[in-house]
Amino acid sequence: MTSQSTAQIRPLDDSAALLVDDPTWWRQAAVYQIYPRSFADANGDGIGDLRGITSRVPYLQGLGVDAVWLSPFYPSALADGGYDVDDYRDVDPRIGTLEDFDELSSALHTAGLRLIVDLVPNHTGSGHSWFQEALAAGRGSRARERYIFREGRGEHGELPPADWESIFGGPAWTRVEDGQWYLHLFATEQPDLNWADREVHEDFLTTLRFWSDRGVDGFRVDVAHALAKDLGEELPSSAELEAMPHDGRHPLWDRDEVHEIYAEWRRVFDEYSPPRTAVAEAWVGSAERRARYASPQGLGQAFNFDLLEADFDAADYRRIVTENLAQSAQTGSSSTWVFSNHDVVRHATRYGLPPRAGRPGKQGADWVAAGGPDDGIDRELGLRRARAATLFELALPGSAYLYQGEELGLHEVAEIPDDQRQDPAFLRTTPETRSDDGLGRDGCRVPLPWARGGASFGFGEGGAHLPQPAWFADFSVEAESDDPTSTLEMYRRALHLRRELQGAETLTWDDALSDGEVLVFERTGGWVCATNFGDVEVPLPSGEVLVASGELGGSEDAAGGARVLPGATTVWLRR
Ligand code: NOJ
Repeated sequence: MTSQSTAQIRPLDDSAALLVDDPTWWRQAAVYQIYPRSFADANGDGIGDLRGITSRVPYLQGLGVDAVWLSPFYPSALADGGYDVDDYRDVDPRIGTLEDFDELSSALHTAGLRLIVDLVPNHTGSGHSWFQEALAAGRGSRARERYIFREGRGEHGELPPADWESIFGGPAWTRVEDGQWYLHLFATEQPDLNWADREVHEDFLTTLRFWSDRGVDGFRVDVAHALAKDLGEELPSSAELEAMPHDGRHPLWDRDEVHEIYAEWRRVFDEYSPPRTAVAEAWVGSAERRARYASPQGLGQAFNFDLLEADFDAADYRRIVTENLAQSAQTGSSSTWVFSNHDVVRHATRYGLPPRAGRPGKQGADWVAAGGPDDGIDRELGLRRARAATLFELALPGSAYLYQGEELGLHEVAEIPDDQRQDPAFLRTTPETRSDDGLGRDGCRVPLPWARGGASFGFGEGGAHLPQPAWFADFSVEAESDDPTSTLEMYRRALHLRRELQGAETLTWDDALSDGEVLVFERTGGWVCATNFGDVEVPLPSGEVLVASGELGGSEDAAGGARVLPGATTVWLRR
């Protein structure tokens, strides 16, 4: 097997400042998540595609991110936005071809950007050839061993093997024609793979090599904590499952032996130069459990959702940052930070809503479920805080994962009619059975506005597959470009500065300047980040202002005016 090196890749201009052979490139990278079906539509069929993304590589380069993470672009029935993969080694024809993929990869690399692809190993799509074979081959067949098939309970096997509920609501077991049942922790169309089966392991190793050979730099691993399962003959009830501790021995989640899978993957990653990287999506109970996924002998990095789940609060932010930096220093990984992704209500919206028991993602879901009432939200404050939070994030040591559209300051789209919603979390539930996630995740997946007008605000010639609201015009790339006060220009400036200023993976809190509502920390080289979480202005720490998330008050005049840092504002300074 030949391992393709990316050593020959040379950035075209100075703005692409990546060290091309650097095996540590991921440690402090700013990674931009693209949800391909909603980014840019080159062929005008209403669905974003790979050629659309390629056409926007100059935009991504100009933004100043270091890498792009592509959410699934594989053939899929789209029961779960592409996370139901029917073929792991191909491209959905609605999105493009493998040649389009190669072109995109090469355009990104030429621009000095790395490419991370999403891998979905816990379940396939129900259209996958393995699942189709399993259905046709019947009970007791080899094909069924790749999945988790069971006989039902009850006299005629008419009851599911256990009363478990899927993550999206509704039962987690579905009966097939011959009477057996299969497990799907997510939608019916997402049958769980049996990771006790050697062929499943081998096939994923083949997939890792397939994309690595094509020049992919890393992988984002979906539901990384669910692959290993312990399902003996007697299955626990859902109440019993619920009561079990998540200590590495839970039958479904975060089992210790899942790391044997990732140790095997690591050996494949290390066949390449530079080694391929991975980041785990693992919703586990503690920073300590998460650190296992980030081990250098395993996936190497794991998402840390602590900031995403926090209110805009100085004490919470400081505690989270301190804990996570200590944790990553111990494991040898680097910290990751994220506020928005394709699964949660956008952070500009969350921060404009009154706090609810410390669970901002969930209060956003409530607001969407209520139809997005204008009197329930302070949109301006939400955006102001979101910008301050992002500037805080981009100053932290470690890598920052940004979600498409947050650089425009987009709010969640609440105004999607029920009959146009696509998320299984909505489709599988009723108002009575709906969980905390409310109407689901479509509101952050609406196609991006590139232009002030046109059929789909510049997304493509053929409209958009989820309805875009009229207010998108003012948040479009066209409207925000060259406006020095826009969110887009703030991201651009901060991302470019970050490359220039980035240093050791440490920070020092400035306790003389930090207090209840204000956090000030310094990075190496005299780079200072100050955030005012309150709503009363405070004196601006001294130093040269590099970028600010909002207008700074006061004046620098000789008459003795002092500059101030207004509420919900972050500033970077050089001492
Ligand atoms: C996590 C992904 O981020 C989410 O979008 C998906 O629905 C589930 N995993 C199931 O694959």
